[in-house]
Amino acid sequence: MEKLIIQGGNPLVGEIRVSGAKNAALPILAAGLLADEPLTIRNLPHLQDITTTMELLGSMGLTLTVGKRLQVEIDSGTISNFFAPYELVKTMRASILVLGPLLARFGQAEVSLPGGCAIGSRPVDIHLHGLAAMGAEIEVSGGYIKAKTTGLKGADIILDKVTVTGTENLLMAATLADGVTTIKNAAREPEVVDLICCLQKMGANISGAGTDTLRIEGVKSLMGVTYDILPDRIETGTYLVAAAMTGGHVRLKDTRPELLEGVMSKLTEAGATVTRGLDWVELQMKGQTLKAVDINTGPYPGFPTDMQAQFTALNAVAEGVGVVVESVFENRFMHVQELMRMGASIRLEGNTAIVTGVKNLTGAPLMATDLRASASLVLAGLVATGETVINRIYHIDRGYETIEEKLMNLGAKIKRVPR
Ligand code: UD1
Repeated sequence: MEKLIIQGGNPLVGEIRVSGAKNAALPILAAGLLADEPLTIRNLPHLQDITTTMELLGSMGLTLTVGKRLQVEIDSGTISNFFAPYELVKTMRASILVLGPLLARFGQAEVSLPGGCAIGSRPVDIHLHGLAAMGAEIEVSGGYIKAKTTGLKGADIILDKVTVTGTENLLMAATLADGVTTIKNAAREPEVVDLICCLQKMGANISGAGTDTLRIEGVKSLMGVTYDILPDRIETGTYLVAAAMTGGHVRLKDTRPELLEGVMSKLTEAGATVTRGLDWVELQMKGQTLKAVDINTGPYPGFPTDMQAQFTALNAVAEGVGVVVESVFENRFMHVQELMRMGASIRLEGNTAIVTGVKNLTGAPLMATDLRASASLVLAGLVATGETVINRIYHIDRGYETIEEKLMNLGAKIKRVPR
């Protein structure tokens, strides 16, 4: 297994490009199942989760043609089965996103039930209730969700909890259902909006994008189109935090700063100077003192849970005390123990981490536990004195495109080595 070795202490300086958003690309790849014609997706990030989704679609018989410029064409005309095996679903919970499209277009699906994961139990009950309300017959047995329908019907659905992939699954199912579906308490994340924009381009009739109430009027079929994935706001935020922590000055291009207002305002509160244009954002920290900030995660437009670990790392080396409350997931503080092994001072109380900044972290051998936790360990390694070795970096490769190359371009001392 590969690992990352980081020599801390260099401020990050320079410019890099932000990749396409993983969490928009995953549902849009699944939307390839809905179209009668090939769907071409551009600005796909080169990530393990994308490869896993393409492998899943390929295993169902779909034809995937990878082109130049981060492009893939998905043709569902060759589908031969409707099965998502445990072996793939266990490595990526977002595989559940094929359930809604399979049911809507082909009337059947057998998808492994995602298990627990490092950041909590993460059930899919809301996805299943919504599909049942649309008339699907669902049985859970032998670890699999077995679902069938003679035709989904529009329904009024109120989500018990705001769920991103739940909203996306039901939304995709509703595009081909008979009649009108409303989804209340829907997720408003930019990635949900990006999926809606793609579905609209394919001919779906959806209103309310970006609000908590979606109205979908089913259509008979959807077309194949070409669609560009939006930039990754979490990748953008992660590099901004890295620049702030290292006292650097970075410019990120090909991004959409308006999608991370909460993150940028916390960075300003932490002492950084943040400037932005339509498709770029710049953070300057030189000479300023990094100050601890309080964070409370929530569904969009709340503070993203996917940025919580990075801000925990920021607080660990900032002046003062930062209180970090995780309100979305029940157990998303796996990074805390590892940060403490580097000398961080953090007290955990239930879903709250009280972080008292220290002058110095020291490099240590560390274990990556989940995607964003791993990112926070990389950030900590960039400011620690001495060498940090991060093991199990396949977690990082699920969500950060060529992270060591991008960081090297910004002047970090980081390398990937085989075990
Ligand atoms: C998505 C993102 C992930 C992000 C998360 C929250 C993708 C591929 N992943 O994950 O990066 O951290 O949103 O912004 O887009 N819940 C239930 N029952 C359900 C579904 C969810 O109780 O049927 C709960 C979850 O346990 C969690 C909360 O709802 O506490 C939000 O989870 P959800 O938005 O569904 O996360 P994902 O869509 O899996």
